[in-house]
Amino acid sequence: MKLLHIVASPRGEKSNTMRISGAFADSLREHQENVVIETVDLYNHDLPAIAGDNIEAKYTLMLGQPISKDHAESWSQIERAITHFLSADAYLLTTPMWNFSIPYALKYYIDCIVQPGYLFRYNEIGQAVPMVLGKKMICVSSRGGDYSPGSPMNVFDFQEPYLRAIFGFIGITDIEFINAQPMDITPELREGAVGAAMEHAAALAVRPDWATVAADRLPANPAGLKPRPIVDDEPVASTAG
Ligand SMILES: Cc1cc2nc3c(=O)[nH]c(=O)nc-3n(C[C@H](O)[C@H](O)[C@H](O)COP(=O)(O)O)c2cc1C
Repeated sequence: MKLLHIVASPRGEKSNTMRISGAFADSLREHQENVVIETVDLYNHDLPAIAGDNIEAKYTLMLGQPISKDHAESWSQIERAITHFLSADAYLLTTPMWNFSIPYALKYYIDCIVQPGYLFRYNEIGQAVPMVLGKKMICVSSRGGDYSPGSPMNVFDFQEPYLRAIFGFIGITDIEFINAQPMDITPELREGAVGAAMEHAAALAVRPDWATVAADRLPANPAGLKPRPIVDDEPVASTAG
């Protein structure tokens, strides 16, 4: 099983969130066989701009048209990021809450990879159809305050609902959240919450569903992310729209 660890905290070893996702990763390596963990550190990772040729190409795809030759070279960098994302069987997301939602680096990554014809497609009547099937995700977040269900701040939690929505949109609906909170009120509260979250994370990795994730998964990309010549007169098969 290949687990892609997407890191959206820039704090390295000081990161509260990393302590918890580290406990998950360590436990997974210890208790499950054939686990390969690859890390994408979003603050040390070049991503193509969603501007210039790439924004032209994206709008062409959204209209169900082929990408022009002029945009193909630039677009190939987006395809590389998508291929890398799709190469994983499961995902571990390490993300602090920033301004009630996700850090900009994670949003940028999502803007790069969530492309029509690759992670979702449009059907004949223009509805979006998810294409990333059979994959698991665990989202570890930490927050300075406390946004637990039932608390007064819960309505400001745009992080978990957004992540469920965007990853559900592309087909990843098997998502579990571990939200550690509050981190920034007192050291005692932080250590208590991090400790409990680390225990929870380590226990999750032992569960049998993580052992069977590779065996059970469906083809990564049933509609096909195929290398294809991008020419003006060739329709892009997977974007009917
Ligand atoms: C730019 C920025 C914005 C933040 N916004 C929020 C916020 O909206 N709500 C909150 O509770 N904490 C907020 N925090 C605090 C972090 O969520 C908290 O310290 C978290 O544990 C940091 O995780 P890390 O150590 O893994 O980076 C913010 C921190 C930063 C740096």
